[in-house]
Amino acid sequence: MDQIKILGKKSLSGSVRISGAKNAVLPIMTAALMAEGESVITRVPDLRDTRTMIRLMEVVGAKCSFNKNTLKIQSDSVDNPEAPYDLVKTMRASFYVLGPLLARFGTVKVSLPGGCAWGPRPVDFHLKGLEALGARITLRNGYILAEANRLKGTNINFKFPSVGATGNIVMAASTADGRTIIENAATEPEIVQLCDYLNLMGAHINGIGTQKIVIDGVESLYPANIDIIPDRIEAGTFLVAGALLGKITLEDVNEKHLEAILLKLQKVGSTISTTSDSITIERGENIRAVDMTTSVYPGFATDLQAQWVALMSLAEGASTITDTVYYDRFSHVPELNRFGANIKVKNNVAFVKGVKELVGAPVMSTDIRASASLILAGLAASGETNVSRIYHIDRGYEKIEKKFQDLGADIERI
Ligand code: EPZ
Repeated sequence: MDQIKILGKKSLSGSVRISGAKNAVLPIMTAALMAEGESVITRVPDLRDTRTMIRLMEVVGAKCSFNKNTLKIQSDSVDNPEAPYDLVKTMRASFYVLGPLLARFGTVKVSLPGGCAWGPRPVDFHLKGLEALGARITLRNGYILAEANRLKGTNINFKFPSVGATGNIVMAASTADGRTIIENAATEPEIVQLCDYLNLMGAHINGIGTQKIVIDGVESLYPANIDIIPDRIEAGTFLVAGALLGKITLEDVNEKHLEAILLKLQKVGSTISTTSDSITIERGENIRAVDMTTSVYPGFATDLQAQWVALMSLAEGASTITDTVYYDRFSHVPELNRFGANIKVKNNVAFVKGVKELVGAPVMSTDIRASASLILAGLAASGETNVSRIYHIDRGYEKIEKKFQDLGADIERI
């Protein structure tokens, strides 16, 4: 089992190139299944999750070739609309094949992600949306079976602007009969790029990036090529590293996707300067305590909440961090407290009392973003840190220890 070993308190300097966005490429790969022919996707990050999705593509019958961050998907041979449990349980985003395969084949069988459809991280919005489009949905021994001879456009109003449900429904509606209007749709940049990609494939989608998306179904879609947007969550993670430890320039980023965290980091005391495709952050004299509440885009991303808690652990003063997207996303807190942080969690709020210093410790990753926060804490702590179960971090960060080594950190995979 790989671990990451860190000798902390090294100041960081230099520049880092941000990889393509995991949460944009995953739905775009499933959208490519809707058209026969070869799609070429560039700037694809080499992650466990992208490799899991490639395996899923091949299980459904597509042929994939992936090297040097370019992915080719040949989907003529797609003939098995089924996503098996062993793949879906390792990556919830496998659920994105539901809409595309239903639209193309009229039938699809997808394992439920972890838990039941209405348990933690439910998929009820996905299912209700597809039923509204005319699909017949049944649940049978852990699998969703969906059937529809032809999906029919309709009006759908999400109770919560779910990223995944918006993605699935936009894909399914792209070749449905007639018009679909989605109200309270997700506006995340990754969903914007998915919609742009579908339009490159011949779809007719309007209102992209707003909470009201209008899709006029077309007969069929054709393959298209696209260059993936930069990963704003990886970028935010490196911004926090700069606020903690030195002066870092992020190359190939889109500042527009990072407005919420950049504003907060200025309040913390960091100095930030930007060009058209780079951001330079420099740690301030000290780290000021700044409260934060996550919300859907363009608010502060829940995927950067754990990293913010790590930063506030070393702030001067107390801060409260509230997650309004996931009420139970604090598994990083007990691990951060092992470094000597002083954090208490009550419901969906973390109360952080900044401490003078963190001391390295053996800690355990529990999910992608929690492990990023442990690495940040290890880089800022005195002494040695060992982070275990780092397959979590490899799901969402490309060569993270190499990127930090190049910035001057004493970090290695053992
Ligand atoms: C996407 O997950 C991201 N994953 C997550 O990033 C991210 O945390 C999340 O959006 C929120 O921004 C991918 O894009 C692959 P949601 P998703 O549907 O689509 C509830 C990472 O680290 N909900 O927007 O699953 C749900 O329980 C990952 O890269 C329902 O109730 O998120 C949650 O409370 C972690 N019913 C809220 O909505 C549903 O049918 C937001 O979930 C669907 C969601």
